[in-house]
Amino acid sequence: MSSSFLTVSSTRLVTGIFSSLLSVLQNTGVFIWDLGLTLFNAFAPLRPANRVVLDGYPGAGGVWPQYIPPREGDSRSCCPALNAMANHGILPRDGRNISFRQMNSAIRKMYNFSPTFCFYVPDYAARMLNKSYWTDTFDLEDLSAHNCIEHDASLTRKDTYHSFDQSKPDVRLIRELLACGTGSGGNLTIADLSRILGKRRAESKKTNGQYSQSVVHKLFGSSNSSTLLTIFGGRVQDLAPILLEERIPDGWQPRIRRPWGLTLTEFQLTVLPVEFGIKEEVEDAFRLSKEGKKNV
Ligand SMILES: *[C@@H]1O[C@H](CO)[C@@H](O)[C@H](O)[C@H]1NC(C)=O
Ligand SMILES: *[C@@H]1O[C@H](CO)[C@@H](O)[C@H](O)[C@H]1NC(C)=O
Ligand SMILES: *[C@@H]1O[C@H](CO)[C@@H](O)[C@H](O)[C@H]1NC(C)=O
Ligand SMILES: *[C@@H]1O[C@H](CO)[C@@H](O)[C@H](O)[C@H]1NC(C)=O
Repeated sequence: MSSSFLTVSSTRLVTGIFSSLLSVLQNTGVFIWDLGLTLFNAFAPLRPANRVVLDGYPGAGGVWPQYIPPREGDSRSCCPALNAMANHGILPRDGRNISFRQMNSAIRKMYNFSPTFCFYVPDYAARMLNKSYWTDTFDLEDLSAHNCIEHDASLTRKDTYHSFDQSKPDVRLIRELLACGTGSGGNLTIADLSRILGKRRAESKKTNGQYSQSVVHKLFGSSNSSTLLTIFGGRVQDLAPILLEERIPDGWQPRIRRPWGLTLTEFQLTVLPVEFGIKEEVEDAFRLSKEGKKNV
């Protein structure tokens, strides 16, 4: 065994341990910070419904910068909320060369997610793309790398297997989503989202020869669907332009009015019931456990 091999492997081992240790510390820090914000939010007065976006920022008082649909050569992603930011010029209109830190502060101001959410999600995206949250930039289309952030059984996009281009809304899927609300005025509820996610997963499994969804991606899917209920209040009237045209309607404000925004902790109160309410997953688990018993 050459000494250079030993040097290289021990250096890699030490850097490996060090970086996983750092990421454990970082996550612990983020979750403690998040609990603090959640606690503060629970007692602090809500922002007025028509002034959730603070004065001086785009969207204050419901006045959003001009909407221009993407032009030839502009970069767009599989995420309607980020595309809408570019369509209104809140992120660069060409969707390119966006720093992760810029995305953090823009999401915080526009959608009123908590600072912890706005750090955790872009930091996670940076890692998935093998980039640095602190120093790197990305183009919106980079987020569509299959099974990094983008994954199968989307509520707004056909699977990559059927449609390689993840940047454009799928009108049929979105209309089906908007029509499934059983809340007052046809608004979406937790039960509606569990039902339609279950249906989409079953559909993908059947028609997509390369269907794959890890637990992480399933939770990711129930998380981004839960933003429809929290930040967007489940209101189909707002969600129609947001999902179909990736346009923020005039007068719109985030429905989460907490001063520190939607925290990761509070978000779980919606995400977990959505995910655990998916009937198909329960049936699958039941079937697998029965088969398991038969096999032993
Ligand atoms: C990307 O943006 C940075 C500043 O944020 C700038 O220095 C750099 O030149 C830009 N790169 C491209 C390719 O436009
Ligand atoms: C990131 O790196 C891993 C391991 O080297 C690789 O498997 C993965 O495809 C990379 N992801 C992207 C988006 O380049
Ligand atoms: C969640 O968002 C990602 C990225 O935009 C997308 O690929 C995925 O399909 C979405 N999940 C659902 C269930 O819509
Ligand atoms: C349902 O949605 C409409 C607009 O789409 C909204 O005016 C109404 O307040 C919503 N109902 C509830 C209970 O949130």
